[in-house]
Amino acid sequence: MSALTLSSSSAATLRADAVVVGVATSGSADKAGKKASLVLAPGAEAVDKAYGGKLAATLETLGASGGEGEVTKLPAPAAGVKAPVVVTVGLGEAADGKEPFEPEVLRRAAGAAARALAGTKKAAFALPVEDAEAVAAVAEGALLGAYSFTSYKGKDSSAKKDAKSAPLAEIALVGAKARDKAHKAAAERAVVVAEEVHRARDLINTPANGLDPKAFAGEVRAAAKEYGLTIEVLDEKALTKGGYGGILGVGNGSTQPPRLVRVGWSHPKAKKSLALIGKGITYDSGGISLKPAGHNETMKCDMSGAAAVFSTVVAAARMGLRANVTGWLALAENMPSGSATRPGDVLTMYSGKTVEVLNTDAEGRLVMADALARAGEEQPDALVDVATLTGAMMVALGARTFGIMANDDAFRTAVHEAAGEAGEDAWPMPMPAHLRKGIDSPVADMANVGDRMGGGLLAGVFLKEFVPEDIPWAHLDIAGPAFNEAAPFGYTPKGGTGSAVRTLVRLVERTADGDLG
Ligand code: BES
Ligand code: MN
Ligand code: ZN
Repeated sequence: MSALTLSSSSAATLRADAVVVGVATSGSADKAGKKASLVLAPGAEAVDKAYGGKLAATLETLGASGGEGEVTKLPAPAAGVKAPVVVTVGLGEAADGKEPFEPEVLRRAAGAAARALAGTKKAAFALPVEDAEAVAAVAEGALLGAYSFTSYKGKDSSAKKDAKSAPLAEIALVGAKARDKAHKAAAERAVVVAEEVHRARDLINTPANGLDPKAFAGEVRAAAKEYGLTIEVLDEKALTKGGYGGILGVGNGSTQPPRLVRVGWSHPKAKKSLALIGKGITYDSGGISLKPAGHNETMKCDMSGAAAVFSTVVAAARMGLRANVTGWLALAENMPSGSATRPGDVLTMYSGKTVEVLNTDAEGRLVMADALARAGEEQPDALVDVATLTGAMMVALGARTFGIMANDDAFRTAVHEAAGEAGEDAWPMPMPAHLRKGIDSPVADMANVGDRMGGGLLAGVFLKEFVPEDIPWAHLDIAGPAFNEAAPFGYTPKGGTGSAVRTLVRLVERTADGDLG
């Protein structure tokens, strides 16, 4: 990952390939008589001076507005700025350009600038950082924007060879003070968070022929050794012995057998415990209820929940958080074959409940049901599951927002707050009790699918059957934001995004602070 430094030099004197400054929009066009104009954000003063105080006017002439995420590249003036290039990035509306900007606005702007600087070595970020929270946001955004996945580019491809698309290598934060303890802590946290988001992105972007359940478990084993985590891996034999009918029923169509991984971080002074459960379908073909072409090309992303959980447990260890965190990764490959579960088959789940599988493409809830039931046995203080569970949630909330369901209003609110603090878009969703009869089965305790309408909520209602009633539980359906099929934006690349990692890390921090809601 890119290196991050807190720089005491000014933006003008720093040796770098580019200097990044913020611009904003001041006033609005519809206010009587007053036109919107572009203003410079704090931090841009020294650079503006080198342009003779004309930077804002020049940008306006070029058609820039200061809108969020707008990036403009300019040659630096001959004198007054050491770096050869100036990059301005829009921060959106600001009454006078001097208001404190929202952390997420700074995060996205820094990310957009970092992406625009791919292929360069070092950039100085002179964005407004008036407090530690802003330092954290700029650091995180820049680091998250400086990402690329090239493991599968051939050795002759330009992506590997001439480093033109290599992520920005060095990020210097101007205005952040290395001697300020809060600034330093913010930067250190940002590095861990970004590295762990990148870990999740790498796993998600790795194609299914490079990451089957066994290989995923191997990755966790290696990290457990490196970071002092406890680890237990149930292979197909142990799963059979334990009666994990859901995980086995999904995995048995594949030549790559399933795994259930338990990976834990514990702090000697921890007072609370949090269990995180992640959907880890390394490939979702739909099984016998095969997905049609057009719907399975991105299904290597169906282990995004497990990736987020894994990264979060590692982050908790690296940050030394005072909480006990147990990650449960339900890993399986959903494939059609002669040994695959058929629509109409009945599975006996780990909890003892039986499920009629009417659609083998509703496999996520089957593996999650077993993992949730197993995690619940340990009586953690709270359970949070993360899954790319339903296309219906994407229909409801779009591609950038995940849904939060819960068996406890206060806990759902706490999770939603954590997402907001982390800068992730999320929205509370209901789990209407009347939906339960929609999955009644004539032969088993329940079916795995029902009415298409409200499909995301119904999946939550299904999972609820496997969660102890007395433990606060939240379900995050990240089917939309887990994988970005559109153009990159802000600090979000194309492909795996690392959705939910930052929310879960905030939740562990809140757990450590005794603030779970
Ligand atoms: N992994 C999919 C959900 C998904 C869809 C994730 C698109 C990311 C992008 C899940 O296993 C699935 O296939 N769900 C079905 C459920 C249905 C059969 C009830 C769906 O959403 O169509
Ligand atoms: Mn599916
Ligand atoms: Zn799936």
